[in-house]
Amino acid sequence: MAPVLENKNILCGITGSIAAYKVCDWVRSLQRDGAEVRVVMTKSARKFVTPLTFAALTGNTVHGAMFAVGDEEQIPHISLARSSDLILIAPATAQTIARLAHGLADDLLAAIVLASEAKIIVCPAMNSRMFLHAATQENIRKLQEYGYLVLEPESGMMACGEEGPGRLPEWHQVRDAVIAALTPKDLAGKTVLVTAGPTEEPFDPVRFLGNRSSGKMGYAMAAAARQLGARVILVSGPTGLVPPAGVELIKIRTAAEMYREVMSRFDVADIIVKAAAVSDFRPAELSAGKIKKTGQDISLPLTANQDILQKLGEIKDQRPKPPLLIGFAAESDNLVEYGREKLRKKNLDYIAINDITAADSGFAVDTNRVILLDRQGGQTEFPLLSKEETAREIWNRVVSADRSK
Ligand SMILES: Cc1cc2nc3c(=O)[nH]c(=O)nc-3n(C[C@H](O)[C@H](O)[C@H](O)COP(=O)(O)O)c2cc1C
Repeated sequence: MAPVLENKNILCGITGSIAAYKVCDWVRSLQRDGAEVRVVMTKSARKFVTPLTFAALTGNTVHGAMFAVGDEEQIPHISLARSSDLILIAPATAQTIARLAHGLADDLLAAIVLASEAKIIVCPAMNSRMFLHAATQENIRKLQEYGYLVLEPESGMMACGEEGPGRLPEWHQVRDAVIAALTPKDLAGKTVLVTAGPTEEPFDPVRFLGNRSSGKMGYAMAAAARQLGARVILVSGPTGLVPPAGVELIKIRTAAEMYREVMSRFDVADIIVKAAAVSDFRPAELSAGKIKKTGQDISLPLTANQDILQKLGEIKDQRPKPPLLIGFAAESDNLVEYGREKLRKKNLDYIAINDITAADSGFAVDTNRVILLDRQGGQTEFPLLSKEETAREIWNRVVSADRSK
């Protein structure tokens, strides 16, 4: 499977902020994702990190001079502008933001941005007073008007000891934005409802029945759908995960809450992805106080929960344009046979089955080995992939099948 940024040329513009050192790791991560990375540094940026660091990391010359010596046939700002699919300016100083807002071309980075048709992402990083100053805010608005994506800085303790907005955003957010900017918007105009994570079924104020689902697969499906341009509603059980940027998060705890939240949005969803591990049972009674230890055994009668996926399968054909229904199943043997049976019984369009007996697949790990079945009898076996890659491959199949209809 091709890495997500294969064949993409990304130009990193690094400017004179104390946060410049953080971008060394970002460059490595972009390369791991398959991108060809080149770096332009402003004169001030070179005071913080040496060009040698970025040259060694990328294997490419670091650019900086408008009038480069030795390669007179090349006009650096034009050739770099033309050959970049995306320009990531990080960290972006107040000075560089002002320079770009005013369309100046007095340094190489600013001239490249003016000359380029590439997507442009700006990651401001500065003291919070500098960030909140009306001049900087006005300049940022200008950049947005030009169509640049300006990421919101993080709030927190700054290198200068002050607290407030102005810290460089976290890499996972920037990476999401980079991938989204370079991904065709194949799900634009669609609403995708994703369920993820475990449910918790309480039987007293401190105890519950749960399961080992981490929510990673569902969150990966939500993130990938968002990158493809969908409106994404994520109904999530308790997880320790950071929700992907731009998704509407609805937090639930029990299967009954999940049922309510999913059913109330059934009408707006074009595609429903049921990746949550919903408890099949709940304790029949909820004790108002903590159940005391007595040294004696106790038994806990259980009541069956509503099968949300089954219900969705039953009602989906009542809609004039039925939503596409994608289920996930964790199986331990006869994967394809049980998967097919579930697909048919629950009236699904797709089912992604993973083998929970393998140590590298299923619950709480970052990787998965999925078999995707469709209702036309199609079967695709994906190799061991990260959950992020698995999600992308599932969406690829779904989008291309939809296109060929
Ligand atoms: C130690 C130090 C840290 C700095 N950190 C920042 C910063 O985080 N953000 C910022 O906008 N400017 C920062 N500056 C000021 C910029 O380096 C200065 O405005 C410079 O002109 C920016 O030029 P450039 O945008 O061309 O790189 C810092 C300056 C110093 C001396």
